Amino acid sequence: MSLIQEIDYGTPASKSKRTVTVTVDGVKVAVPEGTSIMRAAMEMGTQIPKLCATDMLDAFGSCRLCLVEIEGRAGTPASCTTPVAEGMVVRTQTDRLKRLRKGVMELYISEHPLDCLTCSANGDCELQDMAGAVGLREVRYGYDGARHPNPGIDASNPYFTYEPAKCIVCSRCVRACEEVQGTFALTIAGRGFDSVVSPSMEESFLASECVSCGACVQACPTATLNEKSVIEIGTPEHSVVTTCAYCGVGCTFKAEMRGEEVVRMVPYKDGKANRGHSCVKGRFAWGYATHKDRMLKPMIRAKITDPWREVSWEEAIGYAASEFKRIQEKYGRSSVGGITSSRCTNEETFLVQKLVRAAFGNNNVDTCARVCHSPTGYGLKTAYGTSAGTQDFDSVEFSDAIMVIGANPTDGHPVFASRMKKRLREGAKLIILDPRRIDLVRTPHIEADYHLPLKPGTNVAVVTSLAHVIVTEGLVNETFVRERCDWDEFQDWAAFVSDERHSPEVVEKMSGVPAELIRGAARLYATGGNGAIYYGLGVTEHSQGSTTVMAIANLAMATGNIGREGVGVNPLRGQNNVQGSCDMGSFPHEVSGYRHVSDDATRAMFEALWGRPLDAEPGLRIPNMMDAAVDGSFKGLYIQGEDILQSDPNTQHMAAGLAAMECVVVQDLFLIETANYAHVFLPGSTFLEKNGTFTNAERRIQMVRKVMTPKNGYEDWEITELLSNALGFPMHYNHPSEIMDEIARLTPTFADVSYNKLDELGSVQWPCNEQAPDGTPIMHINGFVRGKGKFVITEYVATDEKTGPRYPLLLTTGRILSQYNVGAQTRRTANVIWHEEDLLEIHPHDAEQRGVRDGDWVNLASRAGDTTLRAQITERVAPGVVYTTFHHPNTQVNVVTTEFSDWATNCPEYKVTAVQVMPSNGPSEWQEEYEELSRQSRRIAEPLVAAE
Ligand code: SF4
Ligand code: SF4
Ligand code: SF4
Ligand code: FES
Repeated sequence: MSLIQEIDYGTPASKSKRTVTVTVDGVKVAVPEGTSIMRAAMEMGTQIPKLCATDMLDAFGSCRLCLVEIEGRAGTPASCTTPVAEGMVVRTQTDRLKRLRKGVMELYISEHPLDCLTCSANGDCELQDMAGAVGLREVRYGYDGARHPNPGIDASNPYFTYEPAKCIVCSRCVRACEEVQGTFALTIAGRGFDSVVSPSMEESFLASECVSCGACVQACPTATLNEKSVIEIGTPEHSVVTTCAYCGVGCTFKAEMRGEEVVRMVPYKDGKANRGHSCVKGRFAWGYATHKDRMLKPMIRAKITDPWREVSWEEAIGYAASEFKRIQEKYGRSSVGGITSSRCTNEETFLVQKLVRAAFGNNNVDTCARVCHSPTGYGLKTAYGTSAGTQDFDSVEFSDAIMVIGANPTDGHPVFASRMKKRLREGAKLIILDPRRIDLVRTPHIEADYHLPLKPGTNVAVVTSLAHVIVTEGLVNETFVRERCDWDEFQDWAAFVSDERHSPEVVEKMSGVPAELIRGAARLYATGGNGAIYYGLGVTEHSQGSTTVMAIANLAMATGNIGREGVGVNPLRGQNNVQGSCDMGSFPHEVSGYRHVSDDATRAMFEALWGRPLDAEPGLRIPNMMDAAVDGSFKGLYIQGEDILQSDPNTQHMAAGLAAMECVVVQDLFLIETANYAHVFLPGSTFLEKNGTFTNAERRIQMVRKVMTPKNGYEDWEITELLSNALGFPMHYNHPSEIMDEIARLTPTFADVSYNKLDELGSVQWPCNEQAPDGTPIMHINGFVRGKGKFVITEYVATDEKTGPRYPLLLTTGRILSQYNVGAQTRRTANVIWHEEDLLEIHPHDAEQRGVRDGDWVNLASRAGDTTLRAQITERVAPGVVYTTFHHPNTQVNVVTTEFSDWATNCPEYKVTAVQVMPSNGPSEWQEEYEELSRQSRRIAEPLVAAE
């Protein structure tokens, strides 16, 4: 194994379709118009020396090392900033050029510290490489030249250091922060020899605007910006391409290794979702894999009040299987079920649902998508015929009017946000529908054209009102609608939305959004060129989540914004494999590929391959499982990689359901909160320890590759296989590729997917079958999957969750950049430095009314329960709205959220809870009791000493 070296072409690829032919060092090369001479030379294998250029950034032309001669032109222009022209003849190696380049390098080296042998970048430094490339053998000015200011090393960032003395002021870091990340945290301060890179207002990196994406570290050609892990461990010796296990963007990384130790994660330029970029989580927050809290031994206990007993794998699996069998014999076939994980691979998820359907013999399988994007599946399938987004991420580069609804991409989907911000800086317009002033409303060089700060719970009213404007002002794309959609249904819908009760002036009263903003936003989306909608959990996690998804689908059809680059309806999926877990048949009513269990032909296909009859009746959803457990008819649950106690709503009910069961099996990395109620604990494996695939929010199937041996002994799919075998339903896979082959046989949209194809193409977007052997980047190009697009009437029904004198504020929840989901992984990394605890955002007016100061403890109470956390006073939230995250178990904000859920899918209404906020002295009584219960529940009995 060796390090994967990606070619650096020096400047970005030109998008021009026209080609020009140039001659470089006597060889003809045809390249797209607009290509730099440097890149054209590199395309034919000639590497022109360079320092300030890299193909992730626009050419800058500051170092003067890349000089070339052009026939018929005077001087020696920089090859990075000079585009090719038809017939151009270029020389890259002449005596004059050699002399000039040596001179440039002499100046650089004369003022660079000479500690190469002990430098952390030794062997991985472009300055060293260029000194070699130009044949530098002496430095006439000696090595005592004026140095850059040497204020010492800034090690404030937990993951990288900044050592100004080594800086060559190439500005690659500054440009990476601007062009790739879009944060604008860096600048070059001072002049001449005093020039120095400066974060924000000459602060430390930690105190600055920096969001630790690492793009500057990756861009730096020297050790000035360097990963602490490289300083500690040394340079890597081999690398493996794999996929981030955090969010639904699905960034591709090279895991750079020394033996079995990860040295660093480097975003892969060939990664089609991230194009060489990453965020702080994927690049840096992988330390949880070796955290001391990780559980590596299986454990069992008869009662949840007993201490855990470490046992062999054989005993743990045997115990779990015998308990499930006993329960089914006593309480019936439907008394047990399973929950799949959106953090595990497609193959692992597929096996869990297979175990439930074939070994348990029922359809009691569900997934955490129940609590996030199940309305997306329902809504988009109804309108278009497919339960997934319509575009690839590249599509945003062609959007002109971007509408973001109920999503906070800079925190939730940061790498996609950077790509979107780039397009916005190029001039695309922006509409935001969100109760909070999310960062995108105003961020460096970007200002939303419209921010509609709607009251939580009024999405359907506002989106239908946008449709009202589009229809009543004659902005419908009638040609598209007549060709592509059901015309009768359109007419009914158009009459419905045209009703005066959907006018912006009426909707203003219930939503709080000024009518002129609704009108302006609707006009911009309908007439502003390619209109693209991106939405998140602020759409789905409502009692009308599915209705809002269909209202969004209506908008896109009415304006013809479907079926080409730059447009579409794009759900921003939360967890890394939430799309995949849904695709794999994790819902109780659907097998893989979203086919209903009641369909005889579909079941017959599975039954023939699996050799077991399948139940034609849909099984229980997670909330129904808990209801049945409390009622006494549901007694056993196998949970792979999901902390339902912390992530699902109505914690008390969840706890009561889990406590009422006789066998709860938790398979996870840590003793998560749900494990407090478990009888069997099976240690799980991290993404670094397994092979498989994840499917991101673009329907892109990507390889996850094992870079280290599972510390627990098994990959997660092997554990499911062991359990299934012990239950008497044999599974014998030698490798996850065989599971994918089975998925492909049974799932028409995956028919042509195989590990060979994924290795060959890097990734594919489903559908991938005979009609689309290389996958489908953009859907519904010539027609909708369901045939004619379906307009659905979207009547606004206010949620039953109402504010009143007791609970006058509305709570909405979300996540922040540095943490992920319930925080089980990110809380066990240095990321806690940015978010030690969940905070309650409250508007200054509401805080003042309650006598609450910034940082005070406050009690947050709803009719469901209460919790205590610290207040953060901010105008990001509107008066009457409060906001918090759910990353920390000691806050357990889901104690406060209610049992209300989406009418179609049961997705909980996390985004609307009527609450009161009052000053408090510290954590509530139950929080202290819960801490004690957790401590008790995590006791592990000392191993018995064998008798002499
Ligand atoms: S880590 Fe990212 S945000 Fe921070 S300075 Fe570097 S490029 Fe900018
Ligand atoms: S810190 Fe690195 S990338 Fe930034 S200017 Fe200095 S040498 Fe160049
Ligand atoms: S968390 Fe998401 S955006 Fe960040 S690196 Fe991973 S996949 Fe990319
Ligand atoms: S690489 Fe062209 S001027 Fe620096």
